[in-house]
Amino acid sequence: MKNYIIHDEWKIVEEGFHKEENRITESLLSIGNGRSGQRANFEEKYSGDTLRGSYVAGVYYPDKTRVGWWKNGYPEYFAKILNATNWIGIDVSVEGEELDLNTAEIVSFYRDLDMKSGLLTRRFVARLSSGKQLEVHAKRFLSIADQEVGAISYSVKALNFSGTISFVPYIDGDVVNEDSNYDENFWIGIARKIDCCSGFVCMETKKTAFQVCAGMQFRIKKNQELITLETTAFEKEKYIGSGFEVSVRQGDEVCIEKYAAITSTLYHAKNRLQEATEKTLKRASEKGFDKLFSDQEKAWAKRWETSDIRIEGDVAAQQGIRFNIFQLNQTYLGDDERLNIGPKGFTGEKYGGVTYWDTEAYCLPFTLGTAPQMVSKNLLLYRYKHLPKAIENAEKLGFTDGAALYPMVTINGEECHNEWEITFEEIHRNGAIAYGIYNYISYTGDKEYLAPYGFEVLLALSRFWSQRINWSEEKKKFVLLGVTGPNEYENNVNNNFHTNYMAVWTLKYTLEAIDYLKKEHPLLFEDLVKKLKLKELKETSRWKKIIRDMYFPYDFTRKIYLQQDGFLDKELIPASELSPEDRPINQKWSWDRILRSPYIKQADTLQSIYWFEDQFDRESIERHFDFYEPLTVHESSLSSCIHAILAASIGRQDKAYEMYLRTARLDLDDYNNDTCDGLHITSMGGTWMAFVQAFGGMRVRNGKLNFEPFIPEGWNSYSFRLNFREAHLEFKMDKLQFSVYNHSKANIDLVVHGQSHHLPAKKEVTIKN
Ligand code: BGC
Repeated sequence: MKNYIIHDEWKIVEEGFHKEENRITESLLSIGNGRSGQRANFEEKYSGDTLRGSYVAGVYYPDKTRVGWWKNGYPEYFAKILNATNWIGIDVSVEGEELDLNTAEIVSFYRDLDMKSGLLTRRFVARLSSGKQLEVHAKRFLSIADQEVGAISYSVKALNFSGTISFVPYIDGDVVNEDSNYDENFWIGIARKIDCCSGFVCMETKKTAFQVCAGMQFRIKKNQELITLETTAFEKEKYIGSGFEVSVRQGDEVCIEKYAAITSTLYHAKNRLQEATEKTLKRASEKGFDKLFSDQEKAWAKRWETSDIRIEGDVAAQQGIRFNIFQLNQTYLGDDERLNIGPKGFTGEKYGGVTYWDTEAYCLPFTLGTAPQMVSKNLLLYRYKHLPKAIENAEKLGFTDGAALYPMVTINGEECHNEWEITFEEIHRNGAIAYGIYNYISYTGDKEYLAPYGFEVLLALSRFWSQRINWSEEKKKFVLLGVTGPNEYENNVNNNFHTNYMAVWTLKYTLEAIDYLKKEHPLLFEDLVKKLKLKELKETSRWKKIIRDMYFPYDFTRKIYLQQDGFLDKELIPASELSPEDRPINQKWSWDRILRSPYIKQADTLQSIYWFEDQFDRESIERHFDFYEPLTVHESSLSSCIHAILAASIGRQDKAYEMYLRTARLDLDDYNNDTCDGLHITSMGGTWMAFVQAFGGMRVRNGKLNFEPFIPEGWNSYSFRLNFREAHLEFKMDKLQFSVYNHSKANIDLVVHGQSHHLPAKKEVTIKN
């Protein structure tokens, strides 16, 4: 755990350069706009430790899988979101001495990311070995108002000398991925152009043939006045630069405004890409840095209006929640159903920017609560469009008749994962995808999603479960063998409670969907029966048998469901007894030791208890929580949020707060010692859930919002907002009362502490604590 980020309500601040933590800070201060993302690398050269990263949405490479022994069913490749063209670069030197913070003496250093506007700022004074001192003030952002635009303002002041400062703003496509499996270079240079202060580099990915064109246009100001200088063009393969020299007197300041265009063939035809880049550059430079930035501020203000959460009385918690919301909003704007939310978003290479069950399980509630309905629907459509591939994927494993197994990891619908040994059997993901459909419909009321899209997915999932489950003659029950639950510290187990539960629930939910469609849309249902070759009686009667006779491992003494068969054979020593040197166990212990230990990576049995809370009484939730939480090491970022919500629901407010803070500040404090690889973007959705569902106690029951709010002890008040169907609501909680203001034109009924309240449009309701 680290503690060098300064606590601030709106900013992520580093004071003084923490060289050894540079990769962490680069992750934390990443900027993005849904279409591309950029780590907080320096514009000028830096020869110290850094993970250079610019990423472009949807642009990936199928890196060949590295496994020791190939087995049938292994995926051919691991899709990697690529480190793409570096558009931020500006080399600076003073009479032959290069500015490089690794070698220069750093007199002062400060950087921050302002979450209100997505502006990254850096100020420093550096002394070169000649004794010359430069003061640099760099600002940059990726526009969410104009999503192909990035802008940089880079000012250099000569503090104690007169002379010549040389600059080379450049675009460099010669970049690699640190995590490539075979040290391959994934990009081919296609075209480049440099013409005075403007140019581009166009690159194409090998195999997948995506093109990304990154362009720059810059202007130079001296002491705030625009100046024109002679430039020298530099060109090499995959690179363009434009060099110029500025003579300065002591105290003069030179500012370069560099506009960047980042375009890709996801949004433009190949033969129009360069033209699109040039157009974007023209648009951006005509607007100028200040106008682009004021558009950015407005666009962010709009986002914050529906998604901000305020906390009074706890700056660390406030910074934490805003950071999570901010990063999620930078990663996914929801306007393109081909895109999704990678566990690291655009902030690092790990997990390759690809899609996991995280989206349905942890991110969907955030989009449902804070964004227009279309955004969540797009997340569902992403899976709908991948259905044919999920069916193919199941066929490869021996399933038939339209059964679908969605990939654990995907970018285009195909399975692709490096750690196949661990994730291969995590078929619980199919349950999360079904749950996503249920959650979307339950929150939005959009049952009309079922006929054209949702049912097809549910049916394919149920067909999978129906074939994957087998009858145990010995148990006289149905069983699910050879799976891995969400707790990846157990592999190839039998009857993982969570997976068994999700399977049965999916079958039940699909049966409900059939009933609904038959009743409400009989003609559409008939079409679906034909299209999907549904043998209703035969298929549903097997499902019903499974529902009736499924086996769930249970301990009658403790009255708890067991995570899997044989769980009680373990030495049940609580995680609190582990010595600090042993943690995180996934970095300290052998895999062998982890597998036979009782330690749980993340909510597993508790995951389904959380999802289906209403099926368990409070004592039962308590028993399960008290059995599993002490064995849980929370080494997945996705763990604490679920524990926070469950702790709150059984009245453990302190535990809920502890778990909340852990998820909210997971990256800011580098809890799991891995923020250097990138941020835990999908767990940020979990943080939002933890806030609204643990502190607000929010649940949707029978189409109505329910709340059981409480306020953590040290806080004075908090507030959050929700879009719910037609309504837009603002919730405030303080020591005395909980109030809800209805900002919208729609009336709404809600339930607080079990009591119904009618809330007309533009009115407020207040409930005393
Ligand atoms: C977790 C998985 C998760 C993945 C990506 C793993 O560490 O165990 O549940 O899907 O990370 O976030």
